[in-house]
Amino acid sequence: MKPPKFHTRAARGTAPIDEKTGALSVPIVQTASFTLEPGAAGRAVVAGEAEGYFYGRFANPTTAVFERDVAALEGAEAALAFTSGMAAISTTVLAHVGAGDHLVTQRQLYGGTAIFFAEQLPRLGVELTYLEEPEAETVAAAIRPQTKLVYLETPSNPLLRLVDIEATSRAAAAAGVPVIFDNTFATPYLQRPLELGATYTVHSATKYFGGHDVIGGVLTGPADRLHRIRNTLYKDLGVAPAPAVSYHLLRGLKTMPLRMDRHCANAQAMAEFLAAHDKVKTVYYPGLPQHPGHELARRQMSQFGGILAFELADGEAARRFVEALELCVFAVSLGDALTLVQHPPGMTHGVFEAEKEAGAGMGPGFIRLSAGLEDADDIIADLAQALDRT
Ligand SMILES: Cc1ncc(COP(=O)(O)O)c(C=O)c1O
Repeated sequence: MKPPKFHTRAARGTAPIDEKTGALSVPIVQTASFTLEPGAAGRAVVAGEAEGYFYGRFANPTTAVFERDVAALEGAEAALAFTSGMAAISTTVLAHVGAGDHLVTQRQLYGGTAIFFAEQLPRLGVELTYLEEPEAETVAAAIRPQTKLVYLETPSNPLLRLVDIEATSRAAAAAGVPVIFDNTFATPYLQRPLELGATYTVHSATKYFGGHDVIGGVLTGPADRLHRIRNTLYKDLGVAPAPAVSYHLLRGLKTMPLRMDRHCANAQAMAEFLAAHDKVKTVYYPGLPQHPGHELARRQMSQFGGILAFELADGEAARRFVEALELCVFAVSLGDALTLVQHPPGMTHGVFEAEKEAGAGMGPGFIRLSAGLEDADDIIADLAQALDRT
């Protein structure tokens, strides 16, 4: 038989039928602790030198299936699951940098990451370089002997800026520095950074993996590096997800590519509608030929994603638009079955200084949309009537 394709692999996972029970759903192993063999065998498990479970803060069998499934879809040797996307990001970054070290990143970032970088890393003695133009040349030029990690995000939240994964990964690799990509917006269905030379990917599993019932995160990358992180900061910080959360994320993974097809098709239809509307100044969506990252997106993504943004005349127009919506829901986050609308200058990127900087480029009338799973005609009718009343 030919190797199964993406939808098949997502639907089946790496363990489609539980070996012990025959269950078609992965059982939730709801326990804090596991019995150990006395002596050297048990000690080896505790030390992380042998396979096995002993305490839920290190590993759990339900979570282990989720980790294997994500690794398989991302084309990674291993994955490590976390309580949230931010737990995955902060733990991984802290596993690489300490006092006297240097991190290279980009200006336009998810607001939570921007705040963590700005408020925590300098306090710990870590220096940062923020790239306005994250490209191979600027990454190479920013790397110093003290640089321990390059941290990038593509497409970026919320401005949908694209970074060339292959070129920047090559630049980091040439200097011997690991590079991590936040792959939340794309998912491994649309984009697999490790195949293009990245060392790690990180995801807010809250978004397209879970489809929004739970908060979770996941890191993927080389097995030896992830093993080291699990046995150091991961257990020190206590960031392992509850097994029931892993169960929900496993269920989400089965339908993730199916949902992504719909999110992407709806986002494209919404972007085309908005681009032709006379009250809309600019539309940000990599699927539009006029988007500066369109050609790059065609190269490194299989579709253009479910998130788009646009600019109205001013903050007052944005407020009136949001208030006039009847179907779309005003809420933070993304990847939900419902179409979600955000006004970042007045919400996620308008409260903290670091977020404002990360969102530089957004005008006061900037609106972000996370395309849901509804019929595109219904979403567009709602956008149209709200624009009429703006
Ligand atoms: C691109 C991106 N990365 C990371 C995160 C953080 O994930 P979580 O909210 O699961 O901690 C988010 C959340 O919105 C995000 O949009």
